[in-house]
Amino acid sequence: LMLDKQFGEAGDTIVIEDFMTGREASVLCFCDGTHIKPMTSAQDHKRAKDGDKGLNTGGMGTFSPSPFYTDDVKEFCEKHIYQPTMDAMKTEGRDFTGILFVGLMLTEDGPKVLEYNARFGDPEAQVVLPRMENDIIDVIDACIDGRLNEIELSFEDNAAVCVVLASDGYPEHYEKGKLIKGLENFEGKDKEGYYAFHAGTKKTDEGIVTNGGRVIGITAKGANLKEARANAYRATEWVDFENKYMRHDIGKAIDEA
Ligand code: GLY
Repeated sequence: LMLDKQFGEAGDTIVIEDFMTGREASVLCFCDGTHIKPMTSAQDHKRAKDGDKGLNTGGMGTFSPSPFYTDDVKEFCEKHIYQPTMDAMKTEGRDFTGILFVGLMLTEDGPKVLEYNARFGDPEAQVVLPRMENDIIDVIDACIDGRLNEIELSFEDNAAVCVVLASDGYPEHYEKGKLIKGLENFEGKDKEGYYAFHAGTKKTDEGIVTNGGRVIGITAKGANLKEARANAYRATEWVDFENKYMRHDIGKAIDEA
């Protein structure tokens, strides 16, 4: 990183704050500047290859909820992380309205914040939002109007898994412009609970083609993680394009836990 100047001059100095181990969990929160409402939890798989091998990516797949984000962990985070974050931002005169992504590490010493992002997570949103029972417009209106405290967020008592279909070679070198076949398989009443979320795609006269490293997120719901995982992997077969690549172990360790 430093010798090859991968980050330019910004990489000349590195600050090592801590080394943490544990399970990661992502919690997306609605915020109205004063109140914060966490959504259900998710976990991302960042590495390109099965078994968490290969290069870091924007996320190769997710599952929700995380079984490690227990009620006790949630309670701790609400008391010590989410609301204090909102309060501190207000104190600094930076009231935050929007979506706060809290990246957590569940360490032996308790949950710690790895990162904050002022946006939805990708592909976390693809497993969290399909499970949300509220109308998202009502919630966003409440965020804008500063009355999020009036909203009771609720999520289906089930699970969802998202498997990212990528272009082989991502995150380094990959080809684009490959025709994507089979998207019509997600249409119809019997396909409720199955979603094909477009990421790196483009509409052309020939049809929809690949236009990025992460091409489509295939999400499926199920009564539990095992069922959601089986459904999601079945649905990955409905879509095809040249150089299609995916991980085969999204949610697997959990499934077998
Ligand atoms: N999936 C991680 C992120 O959106 O930052």
